[in-house]
Amino acid sequence: MLNRNYDGARLRELDVAHHLPAHSSYKLQRDMGGSRIITRAEGSTIYDSEGLAMLDGMAGLWCVAVGYGRTELADVARDQMIELPFYNTFFKTATPPPIELAAKLAELLGGDLQHIFFNNSGSESNDTVFRLVRYYWKLKGEPNRKIFISRRNAYHGSTTASAGLGGMSYMHAQDDKPMIDVEHVIQPYQFAEGFGEDEEAFAARAAGEIEARILAVGPENVAAFIGEPVQGAGGVIIPPKSYWPRVEAICRKYGILLVSDEVICGFGRLGSWFGFQHYGITPDIVSMAKGLSSGYLPISATGVSRHIIETLRTSDDDFVHGFTYSGHPVAAAVALRNLEIIEREKLVERIRDDLAPRVAAHMDAIRAHPIVGEARSLGLIGAIELVSEKGTNKRFGTTQTSGIALRDACIKRGLMVRAVRDSIVFCPPFVITHDELDRMFAIITASLDEITPLLRQTET
Ligand SMILES: Cc1ncc(COP(=O)(O)O)c(C=O)c1O
Repeated sequence: MLNRNYDGARLRELDVAHHLPAHSSYKLQRDMGGSRIITRAEGSTIYDSEGLAMLDGMAGLWCVAVGYGRTELADVARDQMIELPFYNTFFKTATPPPIELAAKLAELLGGDLQHIFFNNSGSESNDTVFRLVRYYWKLKGEPNRKIFISRRNAYHGSTTASAGLGGMSYMHAQDDKPMIDVEHVIQPYQFAEGFGEDEEAFAARAAGEIEARILAVGPENVAAFIGEPVQGAGGVIIPPKSYWPRVEAICRKYGILLVSDEVICGFGRLGSWFGFQHYGITPDIVSMAKGLSSGYLPISATGVSRHIIETLRTSDDDFVHGFTYSGHPVAAAVALRNLEIIEREKLVERIRDDLAPRVAAHMDAIRAHPIVGEARSLGLIGAIELVSEKGTNKRFGTTQTSGIALRDACIKRGLMVRAVRDSIVFCPPFVITHDELDRMFAIITASLDEITPLLRQTET
């Protein structure tokens, strides 16, 4: 058993002295006196070193689908470690778990998405996409097809290629610019970019920008379009219903590969196994991570269409890409059992038929709050946008910090959510109970009431 009596003060001191957390200001880390230390979790609840229990409204980082404390997953990992903790896939070798997992993913993806490449993170999966697509076009005899089209404010990861594919301007600013050939176009974020516009007109305009950019750079130079079905880290941007079919039609018209980044949407989050299924489109490549193992171990997968692999099979050359831990047997065994749990407990159906309508009813109530500009959700993911004037998309001040105020008020009351500019986003585990879900929205409502006078004060 692990030592449960962690010394929070000592850990925070060591955190500042030695540990560099991801996506963090190390000045803020120091000034705050260290990170919040999460020491244990059960079901949908996390506990910090000070004994504060919080409902995990973010499922870790959009990933702990089956909830915390699944001893079944620990048992599978232990058994696999004892039988075979590791062997590589470089030496014309493989191990049973990744082969079984690939077959299972092919079944869930369906259609021509029958081939799976394994990596360790969502970022690596998108790096695999980048290298695979470039190699594919070379083999096809169209080496000029190098440019990826992506959306502003998309998140595809933090490695060099995936950060470039993403559209986070502050990430690009840090590196000066994306280090790959990528063109960013408008995101389908109607609340910010098409407020008051007819939804269909906005969908046509957002998709139309993709076509315009393809024509501007020359279709013969465009390799692929990449997008998250619902943008997660960008603020849970749910596109108009006809957006994705329009994007698919444009990709087909110009022979451009379509990549669906399902790192957040995959494995049930939207109430279907994959986001592309919800929107009724057929991508050529799919990136998967997070919910694949519910975060119990790092693993990601890149699903690839038959026609791409048929092209690769015209060559004797190696696809010179991969990682020591590509297809790690322990991670793959855990992922396989995680998918079994999602199926056995009918968690995708639970989201579609039970949790999504319950979330939507809560969001209807929250929408009436005087500082809520929009409350949107799909399946078990959503965002609440804050505005200073009801009926508009006008924000409190210019610093984009009202989301942080709401997030901090929620945490104080025992709910972990994430702030994205002037909004909060939520994405709880698939096993969240009705009572917990109701408590989550009661906390958000009480927190909205608490911060309203404070935000109004900053306006005067
Ligand atoms: C849509 C999407 N793609 C890729 C990534 C990168 O995944 P990772 O952090 O595992 O590298 C993320 C992470 O949040 C994501 O949300």
